[in-house]
Amino acid sequence: MNLKEKFRHVLNFPKEGIDFIDITTVLQDKDAFRYAIDSLVELVKDLDFDLIVGPESRGFIFGAPVAYVLNKGLVLVRKKGKLPYKTVSVEYELEYGKDVLEMHIDAIQPGQKVVIIDDLLATGGTTLSNIKLVEKLGGKVVGIAYLVELTYLNGRENLKGYDVRSVVQFESSLI
Ligand code: PRP
Ligand code: MG
Repeated sequence: MNLKEKFRHVLNFPKEGIDFIDITTVLQDKDAFRYAIDSLVELVKDLDFDLIVGPESRGFIFGAPVAYVLNKGLVLVRKKGKLPYKTVSVEYELEYGKDVLEMHIDAIQPGQKVVIIDDLLATGGTTLSNIKLVEKLGGKVVGIAYLVELTYLNGRENLKGYDVRSVVQFESSLI
């Protein structure tokens, strides 16, 4: 399976100059979706860990089936105001202004080992916020896995010291 060719590039979305990697074309293709999940499972199954952390919203799509297959718990990172119980939160920079990500305060116990799964690594900003939340609760990030990595944005530079893995890499933008 050439998974790379299953992603749709939407040029100039959500704004001029962005080569947006659209995962919906992978999700709607049963063989590609299965291959994507199986590949993520292969990517992290050697790691010794307790929980998968999946950031809203596309991290849910990939984090949940991997957690199910590997028999791990799933922790949700959500955008502000969505989680019903007490939360820890972290501010993160958006291109214009700031947003807040949250996790339930009892989602991770001190010393638990966590793998973060998201659809895509761009700048690494989202993942850094996820790491902060995990570490605030005393958890340890033992791995980070993505279906797609945009290597030309050097997101790994922001994640030094962590075990970063990806299934598919795009080395350049189409724009
Ligand atoms: C996208 C993508 C990653 C993140 C990658 O999420 O799903 O989570 O951006 O970018 P970064 O490495 O520069 O942080 P987005 O915030 O668009 O929200 P969504 O998952 O709810 O679509
Ligand atoms: Mg996302």
